[in-house]
Amino acid sequence: MLNTPSSGSHEPYLADGTPLAALIDHDRREVAQRLFSDPEIYQWELKNIWAKSWIIVGHESEIPNPGDFVTRRIAEDPVIVTRRPDGSIDCVLNVCPHRGALVCREEAGNSPVFRCIYHGWIFNTDGSFRGAPFKEEMYPEGMDAKRLSLPKARVGIFGGIIFANWDESAPSLDDYLGDYKFYLNLIFNRTANGVEVLGPPQRFVINANWKTASEQFGGDAYHAGQLHRSLGALTGGSPNNPRDWQLHAPKVSTANGHNIICFDLGDMFRAMTGGKELSSMEKLHMLPPAGLPPEMLPEMLQRFSEEELELLATTPPSNGGMFPNAGVWSMYNPMYNGMPAPFLSFRTYVPIGPDKFEFYMWVLVAKGASEEYRDLMRRSTSFMQGAAGFIEGDDAEVWPGQTSAARGYVTRQQTLKYWAMTGDTKPESWPGEGQVHVGFSRDDPQWNWWKVYFDRLEAKV
Ligand code: FES
Ligand SMILES: [Fe+2]
Repeated sequence: MLNTPSSGSHEPYLADGTPLAALIDHDRREVAQRLFSDPEIYQWELKNIWAKSWIIVGHESEIPNPGDFVTRRIAEDPVIVTRRPDGSIDCVLNVCPHRGALVCREEAGNSPVFRCIYHGWIFNTDGSFRGAPFKEEMYPEGMDAKRLSLPKARVGIFGGIIFANWDESAPSLDDYLGDYKFYLNLIFNRTANGVEVLGPPQRFVINANWKTASEQFGGDAYHAGQLHRSLGALTGGSPNNPRDWQLHAPKVSTANGHNIICFDLGDMFRAMTGGKELSSMEKLHMLPPAGLPPEMLPEMLQRFSEEELELLATTPPSNGGMFPNAGVWSMYNPMYNGMPAPFLSFRTYVPIGPDKFEFYMWVLVAKGASEEYRDLMRRSTSFMQGAAGFIEGDDAEVWPGQTSAARGYVTRQQTLKYWAMTGDTKPESWPGEGQVHVGFSRDDPQWNWWKVYFDRLEAKV
């Protein structure tokens, strides 16, 4: 059971008497390492974060036709995401109200109804109850169908990404994303048709707490200089080295714990041109934003303002985390031959208990791209990211250790340090909103992530 003291205060606390608020030290900018393993804290997260936040459950292009569905989880709660006949999208609990079996056991498919395998109750794709076998024999007095609908989450969509939220009183997705939409727009809405997935998401399980990955994607560029130094070796020390772009990239923090790193491509263009300075337009023609094939560039140039195009040409929004557990990634990275290749993806870290999470990664491309470009995106993205990717292999070495150590009696009394801060140093010419941290990449966005985490964990927002 979750605890609140009986003294009249409603401050939440753990069974050992520690208030949740004591797990973060705002003055020192430190958080308790027990957050990476504690089962009791995990229960608070399920209640106050996972059941109340906008959580990514897929992309519209995964379910283009009426009756299409995918099954996903919002933390531990299984859900079915379906396309209705009118084109709208529903997200319903994938749990039968009869005896609690999974209603749908497929990962994806198309079906006009869902039939529970246990006793055969049937539900419409919007979750409403449709019927039961031997209904007359079992329930001669009738069945109260209203009580049998599968609980439905609110659904919101931005850039084709499907978000779901169980909380009727939560702010809209529009408000939740807020200033972050400016940056997402530059990645997912470059053309009228937007982006589409290249097949189902990669899925794999990592024995680590979901926050080890999520707080890292909350803006940790610092680790690229050490953990991902193999990328430097891959490029033979050439300036096509994303490690360096990341260390000196402007970083943006927006409300509700979202952030994005905007890689500075200056060195890369200088290396590619032998030092010749290029205009923004020339840069965009040389390397269109990752995921957009060159022949679709003219459409993008029509859609965005001069300031937005300047940002895309010089410091494009590249790598960002959305609170609580998602990340987007659009950038060029060196392939095995050292030449930059584009990749575009988004990912989620979905908990399975306090010490395990499932990694979902969707590979994307501009809708309407040629088969050749789609193949390039598939190869280059999976070369760098996901189950067999260069990058994730590095990170997956660290997260389990952070988690297992946090189970130790001594370790769980230690703290994680977020001492390095830049503050808001937004240049006047910066076209987007939010705080912008220019210079060496420090801890600002991650500290912002933790502050939001605690506000939500303690149900302050
Ligand atoms: S548990 Fe689903 S029909 Fe019985
Ligand atoms: Fe990493």
